[in-house]
Amino acid sequence: MTSPDLAERPGALDSRPGAEWWRTAVIYQIYPRSFADSSGDGIGDLPGVTAHIDDLVELGVDALWLSPFQRSPQKDAGYDVADYCDVDPLFGTLRDFDTMLDATHARGIRIIVDLVPNHSSDQHVWFQAALAAGPGSPERARYLFREGKGTHGQLPPNNWESVFGGPAWTRVVEADGTPGQWYLHLFDSTQPDFDWSNEEVREEFRRILRFWLDRGVDGFRVDVAHGLIKAAGLPDYTPPAEADSMGGEEPDVPYWGQPGVHEVYRDWHRILDEYTGDRALCAEAWRPTADDTALWVRPDEMHQAFNFPYLQTEWDAAELRTVISESLRAFPAVGAPSTWVLSNHDVVRHASRLALTAVNPQGHGIGPLSVGKPIADVGLRRARAASTVMLALPGSAYIYQGEELGLPEVVDLPDDARQDPTWFRTAGERYGRDGCRVPIPWSSSAPAYGFSPTGISWLPQPATWAALARDAQIDDPGSTLSLYRALLAARRERELGGGSLTWLEGYPDRVLAFQNGNVTVIANIGSAPFAVPHGNVIATSGPIHDGMLPVDTAIWLEVDEA
Ligand code: NOJ
Repeated sequence: MTSPDLAERPGALDSRPGAEWWRTAVIYQIYPRSFADSSGDGIGDLPGVTAHIDDLVELGVDALWLSPFQRSPQKDAGYDVADYCDVDPLFGTLRDFDTMLDATHARGIRIIVDLVPNHSSDQHVWFQAALAAGPGSPERARYLFREGKGTHGQLPPNNWESVFGGPAWTRVVEADGTPGQWYLHLFDSTQPDFDWSNEEVREEFRRILRFWLDRGVDGFRVDVAHGLIKAAGLPDYTPPAEADSMGGEEPDVPYWGQPGVHEVYRDWHRILDEYTGDRALCAEAWRPTADDTALWVRPDEMHQAFNFPYLQTEWDAAELRTVISESLRAFPAVGAPSTWVLSNHDVVRHASRLALTAVNPQGHGIGPLSVGKPIADVGLRRARAASTVMLALPGSAYIYQGEELGLPEVVDLPDDARQDPTWFRTAGERYGRDGCRVPIPWSSSAPAYGFSPTGISWLPQPATWAALARDAQIDDPGSTLSLYRALLAARRERELGGGSLTWLEGYPDRVLAFQNGNVTVIANIGSAPFAVPHGNVIATSGPIHDGMLPVDTAIWLEVDEA
């Protein structure tokens, strides 16, 4: 099913290899619970998304990715799905979803939805049936139940730790009241892992894919795409002390990047091919390098993978040059576009992250007692420069809601407001991800800054956010919002997403300089101002003084011919 309005968009129906929309699209991540609340309960919802689509058209994005809105007890903000084919009442109804999809397609914008195949909620009917059915049953075989170690099975089957902290195993009480088997959960204990060696699990996800494809979605963002298959025998594994939570940086982690996972995506690729209109799969696969990540986007697998090596790169010219070059080699080498991403709902927002002064492993978050807290104005300056670089890169770029407003991580959330399971499972040792999930400020003087008509917000918004509200930025040419609008318009007009990058010679080491089409991009990541070449300024991330590009500033130029 392809909406006629989408068909009118240039290139929309051009399915020649190389012309598919997802190769060049700017995709805006909506985290529904924090985007816009229409019902007034303090949690964003689908009608809230529909109400703001014109704002996203005005911003200039090509597609939306919606984090989970399916039925869920919300123990991990919807990444614990109890019914994959229904909308949670918190967010609305299936009818609200259809209305949103139609409204979005009518404006020429695509939608991809989140798919969470590694685990379900413990409230999913399958898991409840597994608990009731007992050891050895086909119901238990859909998940990873095992006998415990020790004389009475009182020890977990192996030493794996949950990504959110604490053991990755929980022991169940059997129907007769005795302590029984253990089940694996790489995340919260309310998120039991499926057993993907079970054909019944595979068949169920084919059904789920078709359910949403039939409704008209343009694709899926696939959660924990590197984790579905576990090494045979579930051997013990101890990560290095400094490892971050999702990383899988090591080559031999028995639960990340197992070779068998790729067959799942080949199967899904064939299903998407049954549908018209270039449907796409995007992998959330935390891998250490672009080459590793590119294994998920070989021609018969997924279409895109988040470029986390790029996201995890420090604000450092040499490191950025390396990761950009490696990305533009590794992804095209398998026929895929590179993606670019700086923020999402799992990482410290880049307006804060780029100015941290201490190591902060992904997932740990920052809070009142963290060391190395960011300096706000340095963070914002760097974030604007980093986005100016990112949006000039060829390939597909992801924007996380609120980064176009320059929102920082909220560091001082009160302890009793925090909801990330990481916070609870580590007894407050890790703050977790709530600080990047605070609801969006739309209007500087409205209750909850226009997020919710009642002024209720599931996480408190900082008092300083009035100045960052969308309505406070929209008419200010120097605002972060105006910068994003200018960059996105110029990127589209100059077709930078489908362009190619050439590094420019003769610049200092700490100045990043490249050409994409007729745009010269220069970013000053050094410690002294840098003289800007003569040319027509398309956009700058900050003011230029006397022809000099200040530190932590980036510019797009059309350079005068010599
Ligand atoms: C990755 C998601 O982005 C994150 O928010 C979630 O907690 C885990 N996967 C588990 O589903």
